[in-house]
Amino acid sequence: MPPPARKLVVTGATGKQGGALIRALLAQQQPTQPFAIYALTRDKPSRSAQALAAEPNVHVIQGDFADPEAVFRQLGGKPWGLFSVTMPMDARREEREGKGMVRAACEAGVEHIVFTATERGGQTKSDTTPTSVPHFRSKYNIEREIQARSKASPQQVTWTFLRPVAFFENLSDNFFGRGYVAMWRLNGLDRPLQQVSTTDIGLIAADAFLHADSEEYRNKAISLAGDELSPNDAARIFKEVTGQELPYTYPVVGRLLRWVAKEQLGLMFDWFVTDDFGVDVKALRKRYPFMQDFRTWLAEESAWKKA
Ligand SMILES: NC(=O)c1ccc[n+]([C@@H]2O[C@H](COP(=O)([O-])OP(=O)(O)OC[C@H]3O[C@@H](n4cnc5c(N)ncnc54)[C@H](OP(=O)(O)O)[C@@H]3O)[C@@H](O)[C@H]2O)c1
Repeated sequence: MPPPARKLVVTGATGKQGGALIRALLAQQQPTQPFAIYALTRDKPSRSAQALAAEPNVHVIQGDFADPEAVFRQLGGKPWGLFSVTMPMDARREEREGKGMVRAACEAGVEHIVFTATERGGQTKSDTTPTSVPHFRSKYNIEREIQARSKASPQQVTWTFLRPVAFFENLSDNFFGRGYVAMWRLNGLDRPLQQVSTTDIGLIAADAFLHADSEEYRNKAISLAGDELSPNDAARIFKEVTGQELPYTYPVVGRLLRWVAKEQLGLMFDWFVTDDFGVDVKALRKRYPFMQDFRTWLAEESAWKKA
């Protein structure tokens, strides 16, 4: 008899990173699935939640970060793992909710937590620096909470922190995507910015759960970037792959967005200039050869892939 599947709670399941993790786990060709996936959503009848519910081995549960204990009560047993994604619009709330999920998971008996945070300037700085960006600082504080609870927990909860840089998926042909590129261009057309595909975050999160006991993932933090490119590089590659111009809007819109959403966007784009991400992209690709660069992501995954 195979051992019973481990209960894995995936937050952000209908979103980019949680969705990518679930796709990566479902693609594993294993004789028996090691995990029973509990996909969290606030809206069970939604189309994306229903699509998840149709997958084998996925149980969709309804809940909210505001009431974390209620999430774990729905499992009918101990959780084995938690994939934690947090919402950054209000950093104080993000910290409260992220810590709340961790507390509730530990009290329910979780054994391994994968928390997806953000890169903060290379391994050492990321370990020690909250930064001036509110939603980077909240993630730093959630990491500290996980480490403290890990030490204090009778079950010796283990953890993996994933620290992704900016997502390729921020590029899109809509108001946000065009505004994002306008904000990015204001930092200098030749200034590189490290970026990553959320599919790769999901693949590495899946690996972290599948090998939670290994030296590679047990109580380790991993910064994630698949490419490093400037707005000029991005525009050139975009044209080569799609035959179109990279969509962006007027600089004044970029300036306005950075000013209006200073806490969420302005301070972060300022930090890209004063401090910046610090991933060793080449070394990381040696470790994870599948990691996509911008050209691959554009051609194989993006909304423009068929163009
Ligand atoms: N964009 C970037 O470049 C970048 C880079 C590094 C890190 N990050 C970080 O990535 C995180 C966002 O991850 P993502 O982009 O994968 O998310 P996303 O695609 O925006 O999806 C958000 C997910 O969170 C769920 N959710 C939202 N509020 C919730 C609540 N109150 N209770 C329970 N679930 C809730 C949503 O589920 P339902 O709607 O189904 O309830 C959805 O599944 C942020 O913390 C951000 O700072 C972003």
